[in-house]
Amino acid sequence: MQNHPILVTGGAGFIGSNFILQWLGSEPGAVVNLDKLTYAGNLSNLETVASDPRYCFVHGDIGDRKLVGDLFHSHRFRAVVHFAAESHVDRSIRGPDDFVLTNVNGTFSLLEEARAYWCELPQDDKASFRFLHISTDEVYGSLGPASPAFSEATPYAPNSPYAASKAASDHLVRAYRHTYGLPTLTTNCSNNYGPYQFPEKLIPLAILNAMNGKPIPVYGDGQNVRDWLFVRDHCEAVRAVLRGGRVGQTYNIGGENEKPNLKIVELICSILDELRPGDPVVPHRKLITFVADRPGHDRRYAMDIGKIKAELGWHPRETFSSGLRKTVEWYLVHESWIREVTSGSYRQWIATQYSR
Ligand code: NAD
Ligand code: TYD
Repeated sequence: MQNHPILVTGGAGFIGSNFILQWLGSEPGAVVNLDKLTYAGNLSNLETVASDPRYCFVHGDIGDRKLVGDLFHSHRFRAVVHFAAESHVDRSIRGPDDFVLTNVNGTFSLLEEARAYWCELPQDDKASFRFLHISTDEVYGSLGPASPAFSEATPYAPNSPYAASKAASDHLVRAYRHTYGLPTLTTNCSNNYGPYQFPEKLIPLAILNAMNGKPIPVYGDGQNVRDWLFVRDHCEAVRAVLRGGRVGQTYNIGGENEKPNLKIVELICSILDELRPGDPVVPHRKLITFVADRPGHDRRYAMDIGKIKAELGWHPRETFSSGLRKTVEWYLVHESWIREVTSGSYRQWIATQYSR
């Protein structure tokens, strides 16, 4: 099985595409990317590997049982790395349906097809097969200012429809291990940032608005705290868990880098002041605009990453200042990517979300 491909779901999204690029650049095995290409999926993220014989793209929904079953039987996957999801909290507040459909029902379908395939494998292949589920720190709820960071033992307390749908999928993955013995692993990661992130999320939205002289929207008082991790560090952590994680375990992943949102946008503004002194509004921080808070906005997330460090020797490599600068620079030189992803439906989302 070691030379069989892996199935990556949601590989045309932000983290999935970074993962596939890193995988093909550093691992010997092949990848099949199953992606529905929602508004968040973009094949141009993967154009540098599109003709690599080790890469294969399949356009489809993880909830399509027939398609997924056929893929398992034709490709004989040695592992699944499951990124596909609806991932934006604000969209989950405005319209939770797709979050339940993809994150809960879609994960259920994928687990069922994985189980059917896995049950028929020879004993050795059964033991080496892995189903790695990618989840979030948001399943743990919100922390007080002095509370200890989330550990793998923190009880689940999801607060948004997004977090609840991810928590539900985590529970299904756990149950498939416990009940059927499917060799699953789950990772819960904090906020990612880096190249190819769709500009509905805070960091790319702030970069694009600041460059274009548009208001940079900060929810509430700007003091909500997130832990930020450079996306390529996350991808390395996922590879480490796939390689050496103990079956049935969950691993927290994070950057040990807690920052309030206001601080994040101020840092972006300072980098842009230096790199883009000719932008329409300078200093860029003049564009920071406090707007109505997100309903149910979690106050603070923080991750205890002691387990993955001790067991797998993984730790974040990028510092926040170097990672943020690389990210800003990436957006400055990828104008055509930005034009492509900020066309029609994006403008409509921004108009609806920030009209208040
Ligand atoms: P994203 O929204 O950028 O990409 C999601 C991808 O999944 C897109 O390519 C989309 O087309 C695809 N997809 C959606 N529904 C699908 C379906 N039904 N069938 C097949 N493909 C489908 O998301 P992301 O930021 O790359 O996040 C990837 C995963 O990591 C998600 O599971 C998310 O919950 C988790 N996560 C994200 C972060 C973060 O900061 N972005 C942090 C922790 C965990
Ligand atoms: P986001 O990037 O949407 O990630 P998540 O909600 O998964 O943490 O938001 C990060 C933080 O930034 C979160 O506290 C909400 C806040 N935020 C703003 O202040 N303004 C914005 O326009 C957006 C999109 C987010």
